[in-house]
Amino acid sequence: MNVCIIGAGYVGLTTAAVLAKLGHTVHCVDENEQKIAALKRGDVPIYEPGLAELFTDHQSRLFFHHKQIHVEADVIFICVGTPADSKGKPDVSYVNRAIADLTPHINEKQTLVIKSTVPIGTNERIYNHFKNEGKHIHVVSNPEFLREGSAIFDSLYPDRIVIGLREDDDRSLSIMQALYAGIHAPYIVTSLSGAEMIKYAANAFLATKISFINEMARLCEAYGVDVVDVAKGIGLDGRIGPHFLQAGIGYGGSCFPKDVTALQQMAYEQNVRPYMLEATKTINDTQLNWYVQKIKRTLGHMSKKRIAVLGIAFKPNTDDIRESPAVSLIKKLHAHGANVIAHDPKAVLHNVDVKQANTLEEAIAQADALIVATDWDEYKQLNWAYVKQMMSGNVVIDGRNCLPREAIMNAGLNYVGVGRG
Ligand code: NAI
Repeated sequence: MNVCIIGAGYVGLTTAAVLAKLGHTVHCVDENEQKIAALKRGDVPIYEPGLAELFTDHQSRLFFHHKQIHVEADVIFICVGTPADSKGKPDVSYVNRAIADLTPHINEKQTLVIKSTVPIGTNERIYNHFKNEGKHIHVVSNPEFLREGSAIFDSLYPDRIVIGLREDDDRSLSIMQALYAGIHAPYIVTSLSGAEMIKYAANAFLATKISFINEMARLCEAYGVDVVDVAKGIGLDGRIGPHFLQAGIGYGGSCFPKDVTALQQMAYEQNVRPYMLEATKTINDTQLNWYVQKIKRTLGHMSKKRIAVLGIAFKPNTDDIRESPAVSLIKKLHAHGANVIAHDPKAVLHNVDVKQANTLEEAIAQADALIVATDWDEYKQLNWAYVKQMMSGNVVIDGRNCLPREAIMNAGLNYVGVGRG
């Protein structure tokens, strides 16, 4: 099929690479001229494992356009951003602009797929917008569940494919199944709004699991219990499951914070009090300060102390720093007078007056304390005896409960985790 993707970000580019791999011809459109110029040169503007390789392997089927919508496409995807506005509501202006750009060109033979995470009712509104223009457009709500850092794998092997359709729209389901032929996953077919709600509910639930274990970590800390044992002990219960039970400095990224807040706002609009979402957000909003207090107690004071912060990205295997708790941590330590030196294998610190080391050694050398803020594999695999030699101090703070505690202690370093007794 011939596909047009509007919005060449993390979701748009991953979708493009995977659809090209499945044999489709894909035209990516973005309003960011530099991004399109880079893509045309063969440079992938984001770091996502396996993405650059797929782009190279299937370059004959991938095309990039600045603003110019590919009007002959069979299927048009909208993958533009939906960030939170100043009140925490989803800003759908990028989606609205993409729809306005499409309006003069789109025809009834085409299928319009909304992949961006949009507030409940948006897909219906889009359908009605075209209807008012005299066009009965096949609108499909097909939310995305990929995780940055494993986006290609998640798109090739998704747990499920959610398709939201209008009641009388049988054609669009077969189009989507043909488009995704080669990807084996159960289909959940629901209404347009049902698909929108599934996306928000999934992210809210995952964020809630993280906030739950973070609350347990605070309790474990108070009672001298190891939250890692607790997470294992509850996670092996099939009804609970082991995922998203790693206590740490809180969730971040471009999705969880904004999607939890968005769902909360949508609940208020309907006069439904979202007690659970409020608690999830409150725990996350207070987790970092709770941990910074603990760091302060551990180090006595922070003023002029050289602190190596390992990790800037909001999670490993990505260069994305949107809403990254690591960045918030760096800012807080800096505000406490610490001499912070940050490191990340891929992410770059912007607009923060803090030094970023080029190598891990440079970050660790002479550090009074070392804090792991993002659980990249290379931090987990450090040689702790060597780290001890390099540092001036002896405190290793594991903000993600991801480091080998025994090995660190055996190297003569003090280990401080999150809720580890
Ligand atoms: P992004 O910010 O990485 O990319 C969005 C792209 O759209 C940018 O390159 C921007 O220049 C472009 N754009 C905006 N308006 C445009 C327009 N009118 N015409 C052409 N291009 C336009 O966003 P990301 O992270 O890919 O997210 C996209 C959507 O997918 C959001 O709704 C997000 O919530 C959702 N999502 C994101 C996931 C993630 O892990 N990043 C996972 C699942 C869903």
